[in-house]
Amino acid sequence: MIKKIIDKVRRMRRERSGEAYLAYLRSLGMKIGKGTYIVDPKDVTIDTSRPELIEIGEKVSLNKGLTILSHDWASFLFVNAFGDFIPAHDKVTLGSNIWIGRNVTILRGVTIGNNVLIGNGSIVTKDIPDNSVAVGSPAKVVMTLRDYYEKRKKQYVAESVRCAMAIYAAGREPSAADFYDDYPAFVDARNYKDYPYNYRRQFKNDDDFKRWLEVHEAPFNGFEEFMAHVKKEMESNGAKA
Ligand SMILES: CC(C)(COP(=O)(O)OP(=O)(O)OC[C@H]1O[C@@H](n2cnc3c(N)ncnc32)[C@H](O)[C@@H]1OP(=O)(O)O)[C@@H](O)C(=O)NCCC(=O)NCCS
Repeated sequence: MIKKIIDKVRRMRRERSGEAYLAYLRSLGMKIGKGTYIVDPKDVTIDTSRPELIEIGEKVSLNKGLTILSHDWASFLFVNAFGDFIPAHDKVTLGSNIWIGRNVTILRGVTIGNNVLIGNGSIVTKDIPDNSVAVGSPAKVVMTLRDYYEKRKKQYVAESVRCAMAIYAAGREPSAADFYDDYPAFVDARNYKDYPYNYRRQFKNDDDFKRWLEVHEAPFNGFEEFMAHVKKEMESNGAKA
């Protein structure tokens, strides 16, 4: 009874925040790099049966619905079927700069490389190489991260435009504040000082932000130019701004 209460208090403590959960995992001996974070600690399960078997690098997003298992108990079946018991546990190694979609499961024996995206709902059963996008069950590589980046660069502006149109369609005039993630369509080094977005949402430190200012070129110079384009698109679609 007392053990149950202590376990419950411990669980509540580590579920309080992602940082508390990570501190708990590190205290057990799990190696977890800097900048790695847990999105929703109540909804993330990381196998603590043998903490030394799990290693996670830097800047890994451990998203809602994630399960990492370093063991299974299926071989308990052998006791009844064959009178034998065979244990089953192995290492799980995650590199650095990994983004994991929601509801992903990673099974024992898997190594995921650096700069990897794992798609929503995937079950990762085999190694995933560096610089790749892997999806599905079992997760397979569908493209390189560079390909995905090039594809997103071609698609994101049209998505931001559709977002503005959806706000109009809902009966409201879009404001710059609505575009807290879409600002790359109209903000870059030329004008970022005019737009006090919370850039820390995307860029966790000054170096990353500076690099973005060097690399990014917005297709529109400012919100007004972007909105003028949205209105033109709406007119050509026959919709009213
Ligand atoms: C992986 C992902 C980023 C790829 O997005 P995308 O650019 O739309 O990718 P594509 O549609 O070109 O996908 C390539 C192929 O993989 C398939 N695919 C994409 N995501 C998949 C997934 N999660 N599971 C299974 N297959 C998937 C596509 O159907 C497509 O297959 P096809 O070539 O046979 O047509 C996206 O699908 C995804 O999973 N996003 C995560 C969403 C999420 O969890 N959000 C949480 C926010 S915190």
